[in-house]
This record gives sequence, structure tokens and C-alpha cells, in this order.
Amino acid sequence: MDGRLQVFTGTGNPALAEAIMRFLGVPLGRAIVGRFKNGETRVKLDENVRGSDVFIIQSMQAPVNEHLMEMLIMIDAVRRSSASRITAVIPYYGYARQEKKSSGREPISAKLVANLLVTAGTDRILTVDLHAPAIEGFFDIPVDHLRAAPLLTDFFRLQEMRNVVVVSPDAGGVGRAEDFRIRIGADLAIIAKKRAEADRPEVIEMVGDVAGKTVVIVDDMISTGSTLVEATTTLRARGAEAIYACAIHPLFADGAGRKMREAGIARAVVTDTVPLRESERDSAIEVLSVAPLLAEAIMRIHKGLSISALFS
Ligand code: R5P
Repeated sequence: MDGRLQVFTGTGNPALAEAIMRFLGVPLGRAIVGRFKNGETRVKLDENVRGSDVFIIQSMQAPVNEHLMEMLIMIDAVRRSSASRITAVIPYYGYARQEKKSSGREPISAKLVANLLVTAGTDRILTVDLHAPAIEGFFDIPVDHLRAAPLLTDFFRLQEMRNVVVVSPDAGGVGRAEDFRIRIGADLAIIAKKRAEADRPEVIEMVGDVAGKTVVIVDDMISTGSTLVEATTTLRARGAEAIYACAIHPLFADGAGRKMREAGIARAVVTDTVPLRESERDSAIEVLSVAPLLAEAIMRIHKGLSISALFS
């Protein structure tokens, strides 16, 4: 790619952006990203981006709409400033759970977000563990979809745990749990859940033997923590001994950390795609950084090198 590398960040995850820049060895692009007094988002680039290969980092956790709008406005500012290419780096893609209609008269918000990003001027997407891989197909521009699984499985391999069963807490996560199971050499169990209403999961059935075993529940995100708590209750009733949880995106809405502690989850391992609030930090929560992975991907995209090695 001709043009110099410039990286800007929104307010979604500045700590991750700074960690990425330390690996890249270049300073973050200077920009004002704030609010006008009337609540509108204000963006002003403080450096020239004409002809540059620009990456904009933004995670879309709560307040989701603020972070999304900020991203769109930053992309617009960079496009109108004549950058030669814009890559939206989205460690956590918001609205991803609304990727299909589960009943009539519902939106497909994940597709709307894709449309907005492209309309704003995005040329490529770099993201981590989309809730549903099919979201990649919502874009007609290149999408580099990184997986944090190797980071998490390396952590569990180092714990040298025995008699481990990896559990998918819902049918949609079986592929993810199966991949995890193979990587750490464990058995697999599957929980089927339904949602009677939004954010209220209920376990319907469980397949697999967890009696006397150490269990690792693997999910893509922890939002309210209810999925993990429900799964933990079922696993204990089936005789599981120690229960660990592992997820890529720690959204931690609605006191998720407290609920997990009360449920007796021994340890939760997450990544920093979403910043963990100080109030949710706890010695039982281990945060692994995706910064080296994203930095390597940004450098390879910039240099026009393959990033498929990062997928495995
Ligand atoms: C659901 O399909 C997802 O994979 C997660 O299981 C879910 O988003 C977790 O949400 P919560 O923590 O609110 O149960």
C-alpha cells in the first residue's frame, strides 16, 4: 500500500488503541473526538491524512449508539480529507446479535450497521470474533475476521488442567466450543437454551457428561452474565466440579461480574476488545490482550501481506 500508515481512535477503547500503537511503534493520529454542547458528536483531525492508509479503531460497546456514530463521523472526516484507504478496526462489532429476524416485524440491525459503515466511506473492515460469521457477508468490501481463540486456549493449556470438558452454553456456539475443545484436548458438552424474552435465557437441555469434571464454558460475549449463570446452575446439578468461563467480549452489563461471582464461577477469562470498567475488575477475571494480534494484522494489511497466518 502506498501512503503512510496513520491510526486514529474513537473513545470506545483508547487503552486498547494505545496498546496497539506500542506494538506498531508509531504514535496515534491526533484528532479531537468529543461532543458539542447540544450532544452532537464533534470530530476534527489534527493532522494531514491526504493519500494515507488510515485505520480507525473503535469498539461498539455501551453506549453503543454513541460509539457507532462517532465511528461513522470519524470515517466521514477521514474520507473528506482525501485519505487513500480507510480501514475500520472494530474489536467488538455492536448490534451483532441482531443479525437475523427471529420473528416478524424485527430489524436486521447488524446489516444496517454494515450499510452505515460502507456508506460513510469504509474500504475494509478488521474485526475480532463476530457473533455470527455470516455478518462478514453483510459487507461487499474486504473483511478480515480475526479469532481470539488461540489467545484463550494458550492460556488454558498453560493451566495444565485435567479432566476438562468444554461447554457451549447455546447451540449457536457449538462450532466455537468444538474448536476450543480440539485446541486444548478436552471433551465437549452442549447446552440448549431459549430466550423467553430478551436477556432472559433458560436452559432447555444439556448433552454430555460433566460429573466430576472441570468445566470451561466458552462463549463469544458476556453481556448480562445470565447465560453463564444459567449454564453454571445446570452444570452444578449435573455434578461439575470447578467451573471456569471464557469469552472474547466482556460487555459486562447489568452487574454481570457480581452475578458470576455469586454463581461460583472460579475464574473468567476474557479479552480487552471491550474495556472492563474499574468496578468490574476482580482477581477472578483474567484479561488477555488482543493488541498484538490487531497490531500485526494492521501492519500486514498496510504492507499488503497475507494475514491468513493470524487466523489459525
Ligand atoms: C448469545 O447468543 C451469545 O452468544 C451469548 O451467549 C449471549 O450474548 C450472552 O449474553 P448474556 O450474558 O446477557 O446472557
